[in-house]
Amino acid sequence: MDFQFTPDQTALLKMVQEVVTKEIIPYAHEMDEKATIRPELIQQLHNAGLLNLTVPEEYDGPGLDALTIAFIYEQLGRGDAGVATSVAANALASYPVLTTGTHEQKQYFFNFLNEGKLAAFALTEPGAGSDAGSVATAAVKDGDDYILNGTKCFITNGGLADIFVVFANARKSAGIRGLTAFIVDRNTPGFSVGKHEDKMGIRSSNTCELILDHVRVPSSRRIGKEGHGFKIAMKTLDSARPFVGAVSIGLAQAAFDFAVKYARERQQFGKAIASFQLVQAMIADMGMKLESARLLVYKACWMKEQGLSFSKEAAMAKCLASDTAMQITTDAVQVVGGYGYSKEYPVERYMRDAKIMQIYEGTNQIQRLVIGNHILY
Ligand code: CAA
Repeated sequence: MDFQFTPDQTALLKMVQEVVTKEIIPYAHEMDEKATIRPELIQQLHNAGLLNLTVPEEYDGPGLDALTIAFIYEQLGRGDAGVATSVAANALASYPVLTTGTHEQKQYFFNFLNEGKLAAFALTEPGAGSDAGSVATAAVKDGDDYILNGTKCFITNGGLADIFVVFANARKSAGIRGLTAFIVDRNTPGFSVGKHEDKMGIRSSNTCELILDHVRVPSSRRIGKEGHGFKIAMKTLDSARPFVGAVSIGLAQAAFDFAVKYARERQQFGKAIASFQLVQAMIADMGMKLESARLLVYKACWMKEQGLSFSKEAAMAKCLASDTAMQITTDAVQVVGGYGYSKEYPVERYMRDAKIMQIYEGTNQIQRLVIGNHILY
C-alpha cells in the first residue's frame, strides 16, 4: 500500500491543477450564472488530454488506471463540479464500449473522444430512473438494422455530445433481459435533442432530453448481445460510481479550504472565528469526513485495478463521498454565515452542486440497497 503519487501522477496532476486554476476557477461563477460551459473550455480540456482519459493506449488514448483518473476528477471537482461532470460523462459513456465493444466499435467510438468530442450515456427515461431495467425506448429489428423509438431524460452532455450509448429494449416481453446497448451518432436521422434542464447545481454541465424518432442503427453498432444491456449498464455504473465519489471529494475539498481560510480571517468578538472551539469542532469534523471519504474512493479504484470484485466498494465510495460533500458544503456555508449564503462567495454554489452527487448515477438510497445486498446475500 502506498499513499504517495508516482512521479508521472505528480506531473499529470500539476498540469491539471494549472488548467483548473487558470481556465476553470476564474470562470466558475459565470458558467453557473449562464448555465453553460465556456465553449473554449471544451477545446482547452481536449488540449490538456482530459476528454479521453479512459481510452486505452492501443486506441491512441492515455491508457490511465482508475486511480489516476480519480485523482484528475478530484482536481476538476475542486474547480467546478459541473465541468468535472461533463468530463466524467465521457468516461461513463466509454465503459460499455471498453468492456463489451468489438475492435471496430472501440476504434469508432474512441476516435470521437481522441478528437475532443463529448459523449453521453443515455439510460435514464421519464419512467426509468432508479428502476433502470424498465427502459421503454424500443429497439425493433428491421433487416440488419434496429429502429429505435423513445425519449431519454437527464442526459449529461446530451446537447453537446457527438456520440451516444443508448439503451433500448429489443424484447419488451423479456423485461430487463431485453435491454440492449447501441452506439448512436448524433447525426443519425430521427435523433434530436429536446428540453435543456434548468438545474439547481452543476449548472455549467449540459443536461438534456433526447428524442429518438425512428432512429435506424445498424446491428454492427449494437454493443454486446441483444438482451445484455442491463448487465452492461450495471458494470458501467460500477466503474463510474467511484468517479462521482472523486468529484464529490474535490468539491468538498474546495468548500473545506474556503471555510478554513475564512475562519482564520473573519473577526468577531475581537478575534478570528477560528479561535472559537465550536468552529474548530466543525472544521475538525469536516477534515475527518473528507479524509475518510477520500480513502474509500481511492480504495474502490485500487480494487478495480487489482481485478477484484469492487461493486460494493464502488457503491460505498459514491455514497459516502457524496453524503460527505453535502455535509461539508453545508457546514462551509454555516462557517461563512450570512456571506456564505450570498452568491458573492462560492460556498453556496458548492452546496447546490453537492446535492446532485447524492442523486445521479444511482441515488444514495439505491447505493445503500446495493451495499446491503452485497453484505447480506
Ligand atoms: N454487475 C453485473 N451484473 C449485475 C450487477 C452488476 N453490478 N448488478 C445487477 N446485475 C445483474 C444481476 O446479477 C441480475 O442478473 P440475473 O438476472 O442474471 O441474476 C440482473 O442484473 C438484475 O439484477 P437485480 O435483480 O439486482 O436488478 P434490479 O432490477 O433489482 O435493479 C438496481 C438493481 C441496483 C436497483 C439497478 O436498477 C440500479 O442500479 N438502479 C440505479 C440506476 C442508475 O444508477 N441510474 C443512473 C443513470 S446514469 C446517470 O445518472 C449519469 C449522469 O447523469 C451523470
